[in-house]
Amino acid sequence: MRFAVTMKRQPRLSPRSNKALRTVSIIGTGSYVPEKILTNADLSRMVDTSDEWITTRTGIKERRIAAKGEDTSDMAAKAARKAIEQAKISPKEIDLLLVATATPDMLFPATACFVQKKIGATNAACLDISAACAGFLFALEIAQQFITSHTHDTVLVIGAEKLTSITNWTDRNSCVLFGDGAGAAVLRHRGSAHGVISTHIGSDGQYTDILFMPGGGSRCPITRENVDMHLATIHMSGKEVYKQAVTAMLNAAKKALDQAGLSIEDIACVIPHQANLRIIEAIADRLGISSDKMFVNLDRYGNTSAAAVAIALDEANRSGRIKRGDYVLMVVFGGGLTWASTILEW
Ligand SMILES: CC(C)(COP(=O)(O)OP(=O)(O)OC[C@H]1O[C@@H](n2cnc3c(N)ncnc32)[C@H](O)[C@@H]1OP(=O)(O)O)[C@@H](O)C(=O)NCCC(=O)NCCS
Repeated sequence: MRFAVTMKRQPRLSPRSNKALRTVSIIGTGSYVPEKILTNADLSRMVDTSDEWITTRTGIKERRIAAKGEDTSDMAAKAARKAIEQAKISPKEIDLLLVATATPDMLFPATACFVQKKIGATNAACLDISAACAGFLFALEIAQQFITSHTHDTVLVIGAEKLTSITNWTDRNSCVLFGDGAGAAVLRHRGSAHGVISTHIGSDGQYTDILFMPGGGSRCPITRENVDMHLATIHMSGKEVYKQAVTAMLNAAKKALDQAGLSIEDIACVIPHQANLRIIEAIADRLGISSDKMFVNLDRYGNTSAAAVAIALDEANRSGRIKRGDYVLMVVFGGGLTWASTILEW
């Protein structure tokens, strides 16, 4: 069964405060990737693969690997500090802290609580969002709803992953795809037209078995046998995921455009989930937008799941690729299935 929630900026009243709903802007972004690089050539010495195969099938050339002892929350905190610095706020002004991740430091407490301690966001309520690779845009949607309805003012949204901790390094079908990193954004009511203008999130639980980690949860707790069977690692049906990804991202992009009353010609830059260059090209082709408007950094980082669009947004921002007044379309897809799209007026 398909389930989708769709929100659009409208001049409505907040049910909690009876005040006019507010517009929301991103006032700072940040990102962090670990220093250690694992190239396709390195991988070809670990499994039966080659730079040529990985490059032509995925576009990925290298990925980053977290250092020993470097946790998801460490990477999240580094990205967060940069976003906070750019936003020119104190961490104490943050009243809600969301971390989207499929690789939390622990099953509980929330990784967001570890980040809170590391960055000194002492006044924030903290929680994790579990929507796999779509998590950052799900968190952005939640942040926007809390700000719009006046319950919170300043929200820190982070996408952070240590996917290499759940990678099966003997499975050439999946181990070549993933990497580690984190991206962050500070959201706040701005009172100007700039900001989040259209969002869409959705899920389809029919496909929980095409991209998942069977072990490590309550259904299949960690045992020596389970670890030997690689159950606490990513399991993926690549071809099926590919097919669903193209359809879901295409539909999500169209929904966000429709709600914003924009056409694809209005979009200056598309920041898609960084999973596979062929998926990105297929979407560009079907949306009818030239490939040079698609932001791509997966060649350097691989698929960093919930961190991917967050890192890309920060790079697009800091490099000047997106400029004030530009319409930016972000569109993602992940295990669950989950998908989401957001249009920003930068
Ligand atoms: C995984 C993916 C790159 C595989 O590409 P593909 O064109 O579908 O490749 P196939 O699965 O058809 O595999 C083709 C052959 O390459 C082999 N192969 C798979 N991985 C390989 C690798 N790393 N190196 C070399 N050969 C590999 C397969 O075993 C298969 O060999 P066979 O024909 O002898 O059986 C692609 O399906 C994909 O990107 N899917 C989406 C994955 C994704 O984005 N996941 C995260 C979503 S958030």
